[in-house]
Parts: sequence; C-alpha cells; structure tokens
Amino acid sequence: MNIAVAGGTGTVGRHVVSIARERGHRVVSLSRSEGVDLVSGRGLPEALNGIDTVVDVASIPTLARKAAVDFFTAATTNLLRAGKESGVKHHVALSIVGADRAATGYYAGKLAQEELVSSGDIPWTILRATQFHEFAGQVLERSSLGPLALVPRMTTQPVAAREVAKALVDAAESGPHGRVADLGGPQVEQLVDMVRAYASTFRQKKKLVVGLTAPGPLWKAMRSGALIPEPGAGVGLQTFDEWMQAEASELPR
Ligand SMILES: NC(=O)c1ccc[n+]([C@@H]2O[C@H](COP(=O)([O-])OP(=O)(O)OC[C@H]3O[C@@H](n4cnc5c(N)ncnc54)[C@H](OP(=O)(O)O)[C@@H]3O)[C@@H](O)[C@H]2O)c1
Repeated sequence: MNIAVAGGTGTVGRHVVSIARERGHRVVSLSRSEGVDLVSGRGLPEALNGIDTVVDVASIPTLARKAAVDFFTAATTNLLRAGKESGVKHHVALSIVGADRAATGYYAGKLAQEELVSSGDIPWTILRATQFHEFAGQVLERSSLGPLALVPRMTTQPVAAREVAKALVDAAESGPHGRVADLGGPQVEQLVDMVRAYASTFRQKKKLVVGLTAPGPLWKAMRSGALIPEPGAGVGLQTFDEWMQAEASELPR
C-alpha cells in the first residue's frame, strides 16, 4: 500500500513511518522540513500522487484555542481536498481521548479536525489516544523557565507513542472503520510526577519541577481525569516507568 504520513517526522509520526516501512508499505512523510506545508498546501498535490491512504499525525505546539483551530482546520481541509483530487481512499486521523470533555484550547482544534474528517468525502478512521509517555519531555521543554519547570497538574493514563503508531498502521491496513475504540496506557499517572522523573533521568538533575494548579475550566477538567479513557478502551502494554527504563538503556554510557 502507498501511505502518506502527515507529520511523519514527529513524536508518533516517526514510528508510523518506520512500522509501515517494516511491513513493506511504500511510505512518504509530509512535513515542512521535507518540503510540504499542510497549512499553505505547498507541495501537497505532488506528495499525494499515487497515495492510497493518508495517516495524519501532524501537530503544532500550542495550548491556544485559536492557533489550534486555525492549524487543524487548514491542515485537514488541505489534506482532504488534495487527497480527494489524488484519489486517496482512506484518511486515518489521530485524535485525543476526552477531546470532547475538555473542548477548549488545543482540544478545540482536535474537535475541529474530527468534524472535518468525519463529514468529509474520503472514507475515514479516527483513533483517539491518551497522552504519550513522550509527552513528559514535550511538557518539560515547553514549561521550563530557567532552573524551574512549572507543570500544570493533570491526571493522565499515558501510552507509548510506538504502540499508538502500531494501532494507526493496523487501522491503515484494515480500511475505513469510522471512530474506533480509544487507546490508553496501562496506568494512571500524575503529569507532574512524570515530568519530574523524566527531568531527573534524561535532563537537568538540578531542574526544579513544580506542580501548578492552573486556572480555568480546561485545566480543572484535566486535573479531574477528563482525559482518562472510559471502560472498553484498548489498553497499551508498556508503562511509563518501563518506557523510561528502555529509553535510558539506550543513552550513551
Ligand atoms: N503528544 C501527545 O501526547 C499526543 C497524544 C495523543 C494524540 N496526539 C496527537 O498526535 C498527533 C501528533 O502529535 P506529536 O506530539 O507526535 O506531534 P509532534 O511531535 O509535535 O510532531 C508534529 C509533526 O507535524 C509536522 N508539522 C507541523 N506543522 C506542519 C505544517 N504546517 N506542515 C507540515 N507538517 C507540519 C512536524 O514537522 P515540521 O515541523 O518539520 O513541519 C512534525 O512532523 C497530533 O494530532 C496530536 O494531537 C498527541
């Protein structure tokens, strides 16, 4: 199968690309660093030429509602339009568990994306996953202020990005199925504990990671577990601790 991975250089995207290639698919990755801009549409028609299935795992690092809605609306509209013109038969999108229960900020962008995909002309699959284990590193980077990292309190059930990528390639192979069962990890964690453990293992041992009770309904919902999967969701195998140990074992000694 010919697969285009939008955001194929990203945290989950690079696993989607490598797993799909390992299974013998021809894969192209779409990202700005590879000459394709999903927001402006630059390079998209050429990149989708001959593609059967699009897997969309593109993202931008923002918590702002407008920036997220603008990004996911433009990127999804362009991908669906260029996909239709190129004869794409299946559009697979990755969304986030509980996006509708915390429907503001970044999650409003994910809902806009889901709405466009599910009402579009290309047969589709949407998988919602929880935060990745790798989210701890993304948050550390984005919340650091000198020696401090101010991390909003949030309850999460994180999953390995590689397990999510495997589920996305499975979905691409099995054809359009609409909304499929959510996927979460094996254990509930507190984000601030994950970031603290990540910082002390991989980054600055002296970094002071402080939990912040962020104001507003979005963070209240996230603290109270709005992003935890409901019964019936798929459960990944690798815990956050196991993922950290596996990553640490690959560090140069
Ligand atoms: N992170 C999580 O914990 C998590 C959990 C559940 C679901 N998700 C979902 O998973 C998806 C991927 O998230 P991620 O954390 O893996 O993202 P990421 O690491 O931030 O990677 C984003 C990817 O999108 C590409 N990209 C950004 N802007 C682009 C543009 N204008 N045109 C083309 N490509 C663009 C980036 O490449 P360039 O910068 O080179 O363009 C990169 O390949 C998102 O839909 C997100 O909502 C994430």
